[in-house]
Amino acid sequence: MSTSNTFGPSGWTPDRISDLNGKTFVITGTTSGTGFEAARILLSKNARVVMLNRNVEKAAATTSKLVKLHGDSIDVLNIHMDLGDQSSVKKAAAEVIEKVDRIDALMCNGAIAQVPKQKLTKDGWESQMGVNYFGHFTLQGLLFPLIEKSKGRIVSVGSMGYDMGIRTINFNDINWDNNYKPNDAYSQSKLAQIMSMYELQNRLNDAGKHDVKAYACHPGSSRTSLIDTSGSFMMKLIFGLMKLSPLTQPAENGAYPELMCATEPELDQSAFYGPTGRSYWVGPVGAHELKPHAKDKAVAQKLWDLSEKETGVVWNI
Ligand SMILES: NC(=O)c1ccc[n+]([C@@H]2O[C@H](COP(=O)([O-])OP(=O)(O)OC[C@H]3O[C@@H](n4cnc5c(N)ncnc54)[C@H](OP(=O)(O)O)[C@@H]3O)[C@@H](O)[C@H]2O)c1
Repeated sequence: MSTSNTFGPSGWTPDRISDLNGKTFVITGTTSGTGFEAARILLSKNARVVMLNRNVEKAAATTSKLVKLHGDSIDVLNIHMDLGDQSSVKKAAAEVIEKVDRIDALMCNGAIAQVPKQKLTKDGWESQMGVNYFGHFTLQGLLFPLIEKSKGRIVSVGSMGYDMGIRTINFNDINWDNNYKPNDAYSQSKLAQIMSMYELQNRLNDAGKHDVKAYACHPGSSRTSLIDTSGSFMMKLIFGLMKLSPLTQPAENGAYPELMCATEPELDQSAFYGPTGRSYWVGPVGAHELKPHAKDKAVAQKLWDLSEKETGVVWNI
């Protein structure tokens, strides 16, 4: 556990965010949980927020809720995107490029978790890998030129689950056709999201591109809809009980790490950010330990090459 925090004993909080007028943030999955809280807080700081959501009705209800909270002068835009469908991701990326002229941060927040039985996305990937990782990989790659032009950032919301599965990428059976386990599959997708940020940093560095930044963070253990949406009955029960304990925190606190990575000036990219208290599930937000397997260069390079091949999206770095 971390013993000191650059941001003081209370850790990073949104009080540190200055006025964001003129800045644009693109966030995936804002209909609930940390994504909703992140959108709400960015709008309270006068940012322009582009929300990428799969459910049109829920997205419209989210906008109404935000307008109710902040008034109708907020600058918020909803674009339809299903992370589990590459054609939808590509369409959404094109719409973002058409509608905004800058991206200060792309916040890759949307996800599914603990899917009980192996399911494949439209494009043929195991659902958690397809939605959480490949969906975001494509979105990031397609928006990269605009993010670069804006000297912006890419923020990936990972999970402490990165350290709870097989602790590497299952290249021989990326879809878990043999021996599917919900936790291993979720863990792999979150590890992939984290690893790809450090690999992106390496690639940007090698190309001498120092204006774009990439960050990996996680929300700890936050009271959101995550397990209710896609988890098994048993997982819902377990997480339902956990939600009653001090081992979880409000969704708002879960949004702080991604908000910090999206807005805090001069933040060290090589670190891993999240709550620094018990098990890194709750507590003051800051940098904390990351196990070495998440920075395994050989695995990360192989994953990147595989991702470009699988998605057909080759990054213009
Ligand atoms: N809560 C935790 O304790 C915890 C722990 C570790 C990591 N995380 C990570 O935190 C992030 C936010 O999750 P959360 O806890 O706030 O969960 P949440 O309340 O369930 O929010 C997830 C968001 O992702 C969206 N989403 C799901 N599948 C999508 C798809 N195919 N295309 C587009 N959007 C999609 C959901 O939209 P719908 O409304 O349409 O379902 C929802 O808006 C995730 O990356 C998650 O892995 C959470």
